Amino acid sequence: MRILVLGGTVFVSHAIATEAVRRGHEVSCAARGASGTVPAGAELVPLDRDEPGAIERLAGARFDAVIDVATHDLDWVRDALRALAETTGHWTFVSTINVYADTATQHQKTDGALLEPVTEPRRSAGGQLTPEIYGGIKVASENAVYEAVGERTLVVRPGLITGPGDNMDRFGYWPARFARGGRVVVPDAPEQPIQHLDVRDLAEWIVTAGERGITGTHDAVGPIRTLGSVLSEIAELAGTADVEPVPVAPEKLLEGGIVHWEGPRSLPLWAPSSHYGVVTHDPTPAAADGLVTRPLADTVRAALAEERARGLHRPRKSGLTPAVEAELLC
Ligand SMILES: NC(=O)c1ccc[n+]([C@@H]2O[C@H](COP(=O)([O-])OP(=O)(O)OC[C@H]3O[C@@H](n4cnc5c(N)ncnc54)[C@H](OP(=O)(O)O)[C@@H]3O)[C@@H](O)[C@H]2O)c1
Repeated sequence: MRILVLGGTVFVSHAIATEAVRRGHEVSCAARGASGTVPAGAELVPLDRDEPGAIERLAGARFDAVIDVATHDLDWVRDALRALAETTGHWTFVSTINVYADTATQHQKTDGALLEPVTEPRRSAGGQLTPEIYGGIKVASENAVYEAVGERTLVVRPGLITGPGDNMDRFGYWPARFARGGRVVVPDAPEQPIQHLDVRDLAEWIVTAGERGITGTHDAVGPIRTLGSVLSEIAELAGTADVEPVPVAPEKLLEGGIVHWEGPRSLPLWAPSSHYGVVTHDPTPAAADGLVTRPLADTVRAALAEERARGLHRPRKSGLTPAVEAELLC
């Protein structure tokens, strides 16, 4: 197949392009090349989607499948559709679990109520990209794809994506932290639900969907587990002999300015009960549609290998620094 990935230089879109090349497809990646390189065997079509009309250079090109990961710009989505929708067979839009309005109710499916679409293009909107605006832009983007491509549309809504190449450090923090050993602050929330999907499983499913013509809207999520069992397994696989997880009460973490999920002074994978719905979408429909999820151990080993290569002590976008952790352990 002739496949165009709008992206291809980092994490999710790079994994999709890698998998498509591995299966022998002819793969082009349209991106600036600023975030990284495209996989060996794929072609980079250099373009900047912020430049009005840039994607026009691809107009009329014939692709069997297009995969767009446009994160927060409706204009990007519209421009790509204008240039390519008519001449493309199958169109995948990578959306997000953040499109759902109800963040608390567990075991939702794709028929859950959505956020209001945010239709003003991000390029002109400016301002802070809150989860609501991010989700709203994704809702508007999904609508734009369905409008232009109709029944040939696949919308994929992933939850937390993990595995090699994670550019937000939302999972690798834990294998790296346990591998450094000693006393490790963990949230005292062992029963908190959590689900994730390895980026390689997501990529395999998206490429398969293009090959088989799978369409419609799907949550791309893995099995639901507890935070306690996930952290224990990571500690067992990655931890040194002297590792000692120290549960710290959520109230104490919050008082110390520690935030959930991601960012500086955060504990990745830790979620407030107001957001348990975001980490517990029903995984059975995607599994029935062919999404195969690998064991957590496989994700941990791959993330740990990458963390070791990048340096266990490197600064990270998410997690606690040793100094902040020491404060909490006093
Ligand atoms: N991470 C998660 O846990 C998670 C969860 C749910 C959904 N998602 C979704 O998964 C997708 C993640 O995609 P990703 O990992 O590939 O990362 P990304 O950070 O969304 O970047 C995607 C691609 O966009 C390209 N790009 C950025 N600015 C550009 C520009 N001005 N012109 C042309 N291309 C540009 C980048 O290449 P260059 O910079 O080289 O141009 C990159 O290849 C997104 O749709 C996100 O919403 C992620």
